[in-house]
Amino acid sequence: MIKNIYVFGATSKIAEETIKNFANDGANFYLVGRDTDKLEIVKKDLIARGAGKTEVEACDALDWEKHPTTISNADKSIGQLDLIFIAHGTLPDNEGIRNNQMKVIEEFNINCTSVISLSTVASEYFETKGKGTIAVISSVAGERGRQSNFIYGAAKGGVSKYLEGLRNRLFEKGIKVITIKPGMVDTPMTKDLEKGLLFASPASVGKQIYKGINVGRDVMFVPGYWKIIMGIIKSIPESIFKKLKL
Ligand SMILES: NC(=O)c1ccc[n+]([C@@H]2O[C@H](COP(=O)([O-])OP(=O)(O)OC[C@H]3O[C@@H](n4cnc5c(N)ncnc54)[C@H](OP(=O)(O)O)[C@@H]3O)[C@@H](O)[C@H]2O)c1
Repeated sequence: MIKNIYVFGATSKIAEETIKNFANDGANFYLVGRDTDKLEIVKKDLIARGAGKTEVEACDALDWEKHPTTISNADKSIGQLDLIFIAHGTLPDNEGIRNNQMKVIEEFNINCTSVISLSTVASEYFETKGKGTIAVISSVAGERGRQSNFIYGAAKGGVSKYLEGLRNRLFEKGIKVITIKPGMVDTPMTKDLEKGLLFASPASVGKQIYKGINVGRDVMFVPGYWKIIMGIIKSIPESIFKKLKL
């Protein structure tokens, strides 16, 4: 049973909607993010829903020297961790930054390097304990490079590929690695995008992620229809795909 949960990016709307469900089960939380005031609001809400011991710690994703400390602090504070859930991210303006070398590197570092850093520390932590679950929010955007979002897509694709190998590496040790691939979700990250039929609510996505983590899925498209959509997109030959405005 998942009782002690570390969350990086705990102020993310999708993360919040996911962990509310674990709070209903009485889980303990160690919430990490860059804004302590926002983390305190999430903490209050989780406790009102039935969470047990809940602590917060400030850490920027780019501050990777601190990643190991946040995980060992969590262990000391709420006890041996069952789940490390990594949820932070940013959606850059692809067209606006695509020729800005430093901005592209920064976005890649937030969405890929920092996630791999945390997953590496999580993997080392659970290997010493002999059990645990690492669940990471990647994206359907990582399935195929498209002109409208290839910077974010490349970062998410890197994350998904890393997790695929990590899952393979940790399987025999009884440690689960879960790759979560949401489609479009109505959260602060997508506030400037026009909302269409394919947009899902964070509450329904959070519920599906909660269920998927509990049953130990390997890879989750949320909502599930994105598996079909991305299957079709991936099947288009590159000679045709490169001409499309996607
Ligand atoms: N919404 C979608 O359509 C969608 C689709 C596919 C995948 N995703 C992924 O789902 C995850 C959650 O996103 P969301 O939709 O819930 O968006 P969100 O509510 O805007 O959450 C983004 C989170 O990332 C945190 N963050 C950003 N930069 C950070 C940094 N340098 N250090 C620490 N934390 C940082 C934000 O912290 P602050 O609260 O301090 O800003 C916030 O908690 C992300 O990985 C995103 O890429 C989202």
